[in-house]
Amino acid sequence: MSFDIIIRGGTVVTAADTFACDVGIRDGKIAALGHDLGDATAIIDATDRLVLPGGIDSHVHFAQPSGDGIVMADGFASGTRSAAFGGNTTVLPFCLQEKGQTLREALKHYHSLADGECHVDVAFHLIVTDPTEHVLGQELPALVEDGYTSLKVFMTYEGLALSDRELLETMAVARETGAMLMVHAENFDAIRFLTDRLERAGNTAPRFHATSRPIPVEREATHRAISLSELVDVPIMIVHVSNREAMDEIRRAQQRGLRVMGETCPQYLMLTEKDLDQLNMEGAKYVCSPPPRDIASQQACWEGLQQKVFSVFSSDHCPFRYDDPQGKLAPKGRTSFRWVPNGIPGVATRLPILFSEGVVKGRIDLNSFVAFSATNHAKIYGLYPRKGTIAVGSDADIALWDPKRKVTIRHELIHDGADYTPYEGLEVTGWPVLTMVRGKVVVEDGTLVGGKEHGTYLPRSKPPGAATIP
Ligand code: URP
Ligand code: ZN
Ligand code: ZN
Repeated sequence: MSFDIIIRGGTVVTAADTFACDVGIRDGKIAALGHDLGDATAIIDATDRLVLPGGIDSHVHFAQPSGDGIVMADGFASGTRSAAFGGNTTVLPFCLQEKGQTLREALKHYHSLADGECHVDVAFHLIVTDPTEHVLGQELPALVEDGYTSLKVFMTYEGLALSDRELLETMAVARETGAMLMVHAENFDAIRFLTDRLERAGNTAPRFHATSRPIPVEREATHRAISLSELVDVPIMIVHVSNREAMDEIRRAQQRGLRVMGETCPQYLMLTEKDLDQLNMEGAKYVCSPPPRDIASQQACWEGLQQKVFSVFSSDHCPFRYDDPQGKLAPKGRTSFRWVPNGIPGVATRLPILFSEGVVKGRIDLNSFVAFSATNHAKIYGLYPRKGTIAVGSDADIALWDPKRKVTIRHELIHDGADYTPYEGLEVTGWPVLTMVRGKVVVEDGTLVGGKEHGTYLPRSKPPGAATIP
């Protein structure tokens, strides 16, 4: 028996186990795990390396329209390239339905942008902004059957927010079809009320973005989303949770037996609202929603990971260039934080940050790192066991990690379309030194070696719901 590749001499880590073992790869799949596997066309020496499932980032935004004159910094080519540099092998960006558009029209557009442009594998979540009878009654059920098995709904943002009635109607379809529902939980009216008052008082600098979206705005919406999902009896994922109060809403729901899951992101572990409070417009670099909070909130988000209130750790990569009139320095954004595009880059830094701050500093163990960074994403969003683990029969999606390498994060290591990283200068220990997608090396030793034709679109199964998530 011979292989295309054998990864030899490394330590394999899954969400459950850590073991010394070689990995035999044939036709893009893991064909054998063991010792003395015999011959291969290529041998990859993994001595002193961790052999991890490639990261799955189930929350990224590429090429999404973001308001008049604003252009997202990453399309599919640069976004998936940056993902690969960060040890990711699959990403799940969003397909945004614009008002008046059908979901099929939106998907056609995003597929045309993604086809032939991806360095890693890709699947789409559908953002439902216009839940018409046609969308709810016909399109969504058919699309879920076609493998688009997750939706995101917004409780805030002009043009995106759904009313409670619309949330309920969409949740009911998620329940009937078996789709996974992601919720952006912030109270739109409260944000508008606070924003108007701040502007009237002349408080328009980027730091007031955080003041306009305080914790109760997120806590209330989280509570409401959970209550609405309870009425419909549908599993939900509360995305980008930033603080203890929202986390405690999720924890309480879980303790009551509700199928409510949570996601947190690097910005809520590493940044605070002080980052928004800088000279001139520098603070705009950190404007995202929900906003970063304070040190106590960071601690709460770590607890949410340690106590498994959160199932996934995603980047919410939503990149805008800083020094660019189509990005953070858009002319209108200089007049008020209201117009600064929301979102920060992070697809390449998500895993090094969780590894260094989490595993190396002893906050989480290595198996939990794999669960939060890959396995749980695959399970929750219908990609498991093809993706998210190292097992015979799974895709050979692998990241080799040097667990001791010390790296100072600099934007030139990120390879995205933005012109900054919010984590510039952060020192991390542990770095992905090789990324392989379905048996093909995409990034090796800081060099892109894979083409953008390799990444493929992944139709997904219906997620099992929260019942099977650890
Ligand atoms: O500020 C953020 N998070 N922008 C991305 C869009 C979203 O809500 O996920
Ligand atoms: Zn969101
Ligand atoms: Zn997002």
